[in-house]
Amino acid sequence: MERELALEIVRVTEMAALASSHWMGRGKKNEADGAATSAMRAMFDTINMRGTVVIGEGELDEAPMLYIGEKLGSPEADGPEVDVAVDPLEGTTIVAKGHNNAMSVIAIGDRGTLLHAPDMYMMKMAVGKRAAGKINLFDPVDKMIEVVAEANNKRIQDVTVIIQERDRHEEIIATIREKGARVKLFGDGDVGAAIAACLPHTGIDLFLGIGGAPEGVISAAAIKCLGGDMQAQLKPQNDQERERCMKMGLTNPEQLLTLDDLVKGDDAIFAATGVSDGELLQGVRYLGDDMVETHSIVMRAQTKTIRFVRALHNVEHKPNLLWK
Ligand code: FBP
Repeated sequence: MERELALEIVRVTEMAALASSHWMGRGKKNEADGAATSAMRAMFDTINMRGTVVIGEGELDEAPMLYIGEKLGSPEADGPEVDVAVDPLEGTTIVAKGHNNAMSVIAIGDRGTLLHAPDMYMMKMAVGKRAAGKINLFDPVDKMIEVVAEANNKRIQDVTVIIQERDRHEEIIATIREKGARVKLFGDGDVGAAIAACLPHTGIDLFLGIGGAPEGVISAAAIKCLGGDMQAQLKPQNDQERERCMKMGLTNPEQLLTLDDLVKGDDAIFAATGVSDGELLQGVRYLGDDMVETHSIVMRAQTKTIRFVRALHNVEHKPNLLWK
């Protein structure tokens, strides 16, 4: 993939974040998601790539745009053929309530490299570079904590595990606390949490828990760029979901999925723009005088370059962003 694509897709996440930020705290999660999706879809048409959505807003019959299988890119594109995974608004409830941690995210891989994950639950584990390759998803949680403590050169009591606040995680949370490590709970947005576990400056050592499978593949692309590690396991809840996995080519739906199963090869691009403040990025800020500030991250797996992009947008010159 051409490296220019990385800087092109950050413009797409910026637009989606700006559009959904209008809905911050208004109690309308579908409208916030719809605004992000329309803005993202429109921007994709300006990019020289031949993309196919492999993770999107749903199947054709349930999503009017960014549906799985939809073709993306400018009509005259002669650029690379790529898989595209999108979450125009990761954290719809967050935006509706005005909470922290919402982002707009995109992952891109060469055609055929991103796992076609069905929209169901997935158990996930993510760690940074130093613990990469040392932890297996099926290890007992107390052993995982010992391994990250040693890898990150910390005492057990200084280890921080980030986990989504859900009843389904009660047992894991109790085990972490019994072991003596610290627990950082978050309400929504597990892509940001998985990435945070791979960045030393966050102080987070391990991400664990069950969340959405589409978010899992998007997180895996980011983690490839960061040199960390992730493992996962789909958690079909019934026979129908098990059949869906089979149809998507996953003959053993509950097999261990390594980072390479989630994102094949070493050329992936990830971009995210903050909608509200989070571990990774600041949210959209309305500065007055028609100026709006965004913070984004864009990374490439091939070179492992991580760019933080701060942009000032003058909405007077972007009339599609003016709030009516
Ligand atoms: P949405 O943006 O679709 O609301 O997803 C938010 C999220 O917190 C994800 O980050 C996470 O993977 C998933 O929901 C967890 O699902 P649930 O809310 O059912 O526990």
